[in-house]
Amino acid sequence: MIKSILCIGAGYVGGPTMAVIAKHCPEVQVVVADINADRVAAWQSGHPPIYEPGLVDVLNASLGRNLRFTADIDGAIRDAEMIFVSVNTPTKAFGRGSGKAADLQYWEKTARSILQNAQGHKIVVEKSTLPVRTAEAMERILQSGNGGARFDILSNPEFLAEGTAIADLEQPDRVLIGGAETADGRAAIEALVEVYAKWVPRERILTTNVWSAELSKLAANAFLAQRVSSINAVSAICESTGANVLEVARAIGSDRRIGASFLKAGVGFGGSCFQKDILNLVYLCEHHGLDEVARYWESVVTMNQLQKRRFVDRMLRAMFNTLADKRIAVFGFAFKADTGDTRDSPAIQVCRELLAEQARVCVTDPQALPAARRDLADAGPRLSFAPDPYEAARSAHAIALLTDWHEYRELDFERLYASMQKPAFLFDGRNLLEAERLYEIGFNVYSIGRPPLSRL
Ligand code: UDX
Ligand code: UDX
Repeated sequence: MIKSILCIGAGYVGGPTMAVIAKHCPEVQVVVADINADRVAAWQSGHPPIYEPGLVDVLNASLGRNLRFTADIDGAIRDAEMIFVSVNTPTKAFGRGSGKAADLQYWEKTARSILQNAQGHKIVVEKSTLPVRTAEAMERILQSGNGGARFDILSNPEFLAEGTAIADLEQPDRVLIGGAETADGRAAIEALVEVYAKWVPRERILTTNVWSAELSKLAANAFLAQRVSSINAVSAICESTGANVLEVARAIGSDRRIGASFLKAGVGFGGSCFQKDILNLVYLCEHHGLDEVARYWESVVTMNQLQKRRFVDRMLRAMFNTLADKRIAVFGFAFKADTGDTRDSPAIQVCRELLAEQARVCVTDPQALPAARRDLADAGPRLSFAPDPYEAARSAHAIALLTDWHEYRELDFERLYASMQKPAFLFDGRNLLEAERLYEIGFNVYSIGRPPLSRL
């Protein structure tokens, strides 16, 4: 059994994953290294820099026992038998493939640090989502050294979702490990299988070749996002025809071949993975001359952009075609509930479009206000922030609910209504609230994919 594990990258994936490995493998020394010293200090103090339900308990159970965080990446590389790479791979914002391909500069720098500091035999595990066949590039970089170390490279994509990371890690539907189909490759795969087998039933640990593992991650996210875009496309038809997307989703989802998950219509998907991974897939298809396949997947992202635009269009139409100087309370900025993460959150685009209409926007969110302030730093004086939703809604013409925070269900809507301008509008971008009850209170209610409940 492996005795020492290093993970490079203490982000949303690296931190929680290593905390759970440390919990289930007390005999293994687990180190998480990151170039960002502030992040390292936060993790090491037991107050992680990310919000994730249940994380603090799992973290503190192992901190100081067999789990530690460090900024000394080079030293940590020397000491580890198995090295996970979990640095971020954002969409490239420059040059060839800009807006689609993955920006691999952090990942390549990390590979080079491993090469410079490693001695003996190391198993390198890709955790970052990467374009298909990147492991091959990793292998070429690592084999380019002077022979001081020998490497086996595995791909072990992470399927956790934010907000449920700990539960997803504790009871994964599957763990996927890709490796070379050689004796060394199989031995490396087995070493990683042994780690997960401490808490995951063996039949849920799937082993494949490296490229299948890499492609599976992109394909899984593309399938999930495609379901969301499909139901959002249906919501557009519902709004035009008077059908109700909740009823349609229930009818569709009851078919066992289709299933009920990921059929919630909303203001659009966000998060660091869906759009990025689909665009990666599109780039891969184009690279291989599969243009129709590329267009097929690209339409999932196109539909998602449309959904965000449609949401603002509907607000504009309902509010007499002008938002200028109207106060809009935006309830929720995170890309989903139970996270402070706002990467690619639909709220970013919606707020920008509202501001472009010269609305005055006040954003509230239980976890994501620090990130929201960064995302909209250039927005100017029409934008404000309020931790308290009642404060955000005071004197507002409308509430736009953009994140499915559970606590928004528990709000006192009579009190909110009383403090707002009339006629008061509520645009529920997540179909979270009981529209009929809000209508009885006095709101004009617009939910996604449902007929409006309006007195106007
Ligand atoms: C992960 C995966 O790595 C990414 O490929 C996947 O698509 C989404 O999930 P995530 O953990 O969410 O990324 O990223 P982030 O929270 O940004 O964490 C990455 C960490 O790596 C950061 O703390 C950053 O400081 C660190 N990093 C980055 C390094 O330590 N070295 C680098 O060279 C670059
Ligand atoms: C996703 C994948 O689920 C996970 O397996 C992968 O490892 C990373 O990407 P994540 O982005 O954290 O996880 O969250 P997810 O729960 O998948 O939600 C993504 C977005 O889709 C959110 O904005 C969410 O609000 C939206 N969504 C999801 C819908 O609009 N409707 C749904 O029915 C489900």
